[in-house]
Order: sequence, then C-alpha cells, then structure tokens
Amino acid sequence: MTYSQKSKESNPIGVFDSRIGGLTVVKALMDLLPHENIVYFGDTARVPYGSKSPEVIREYASEDTRLLLGYDVKLIVIACNTVSAVALDVVENISRIPVVGMILPGAEAAVRSSKKKRIGVIGTSATIRSDAYTRAIQSLENSASVFKAACPLFVPLAEEGLTRHKATQLIAKEYLFPLTLNKIDTLVLGCTHYPLLKETIDLVTNHSLTLIDSGEAAARTVLKMLDDACLRNPSALKPNVTFLVSDIPYRFSEVGEPFLGRKLGLVKKVTPIHVR
Ligand code: DGL
Repeated sequence: MTYSQKSKESNPIGVFDSRIGGLTVVKALMDLLPHENIVYFGDTARVPYGSKSPEVIREYASEDTRLLLGYDVKLIVIACNTVSAVALDVVENISRIPVVGMILPGAEAAVRSSKKKRIGVIGTSATIRSDAYTRAIQSLENSASVFKAACPLFVPLAEEGLTRHKATQLIAKEYLFPLTLNKIDTLVLGCTHYPLLKETIDLVTNHSLTLIDSGEAAARTVLKMLDDACLRNPSALKPNVTFLVSDIPYRFSEVGEPFLGRKLGLVKKVTPIHVR
C-alpha cells in the first residue's frame, strides 16, 4: 500500500457502499474527523450486494473504486463489509492510495473487547460465507472461537426504518439465539446496516454482549492512517460532504437521514464506470 505523491490534505476521503448502510461509517468519520472533505457513493441501482456472488461483487467493487478515483480522493473507505470481505484486494490493486476495509478494524476491536475470546459475527450471506472475519480474528488471536450467522433480513428491515419493530425483534431473536448458546461475550455487527438495529440486538440478547460497530473501528483506523501520512485536512472551514448515488437520489436522502444522524443536503445521480 503506497501513498500517492499527489495526494493533498484537502482532497476528499472517498467512501462507498451498496446503498445506505455506509452512511453509518460516514457519521463515524464526520464525528471523529470533522474537517475532512468526503465523497460518498451509494450504489442504489445495484443494491443489495450481500446476496450476490463474489464474482459480481468484485466487478461492482472495481467500478465503484474507479468512480471515486475520478474525484481525486486521498484514501478510500470500503464502507461495506460484503465488499471488504470478498473484494478488498480488487480495490487495493486499482487504487494507488490507502484503502480501509471493515474487516480488520472490526476484528481488532472484537479481540480487544472479548474477555472469553468467544466472539460472534453477524453479516450478509456473502460476508458470512467468505469466512473473512473468522480468519481476521484468528490471525490476531489464534485461541479465539468464532461463531457466525447470516442475517439477510436485517438489511431490508433497516432500510424500511423498522429498527425497533416487534417483527424485527422476533427475527433478531431467531437469528441470534443460536449464537448466544455458544456463550459468546462479544458480537461483531459485520454489516454497515446493523448499527441501526443496535438497540433491538441489545434487547433480544438481554444486554449480555459487547456490540462491535466495525464502522466506528474503521473510522479510528482512518484517523491513524491520515496522521501517519500527514494527510489530515488542516482547514477549519466547513468541509464539503458530497453524496452520489446510481439511482433515485430523493429516496436516498429520505432514508439516509437516520443513518447519518443529520440532513444529507443535495444527492447527485452518477453512473459507475463499467469495466467489462
Ligand atoms: N452494507 C452492506 C454490508 O456492510 C450490506 C448491504 C447489501 O447487502 O448490499 O455488507
């Protein structure tokens, strides 16, 4: 991983996700690095990624990366666990700038927090199938036991705003009860949509687990990388935060607000650069 000679402190951080979940990562970045310019791309035309094959996800990741590179970004955050799990190498190979994925920061935070070294991981079907979290956690702590579950219905429930609904509680119990039987003490929310369901997940697991938000952990990694490379934006002016989507911008603004915790402003429609 090499830093581009041309990267400037004022260049934006590029962030992408399949749609809206990555806004939880943008929120963590804005809280931790309030002076950074950010360009966010949500691939609303092709969401969800989590139910697709690794080949298709890798192709989308390559196109999303090329799109962000067109905005002269100084660092890319893959604000999607699914892409981080199956296509981190694709994004790194195309970019000549640093790349932060979700898996390693989430795994590090989980290993730090778990006393019993019994860790649960939840995510999309593609993330769970890839086993990327298990590998990352056990590379940091080889005595750790990792128990995992795909929770595919969590994404549409979060997108529909049903974060505390009774139906969501019922589904969460169904998904999480088998994991709790393994006496885990820490649960990685391995999808950027899941922090929105934190309250429900905490409730149905009887407040017994430390919940790891990999977006918050990734934002801390970004801060450290920018500091190490002297690439923090020194300007104290209000930063530019630009939102780009591949379809239906108005819907993205509406649904995105609770994810970002603030108004989104203008959302622009763009077309990812096809590489086929
Ligand atoms: N936000 C994506 C993730 O973190 C999941 C959404 C999707 O399936 O596209 O994995």
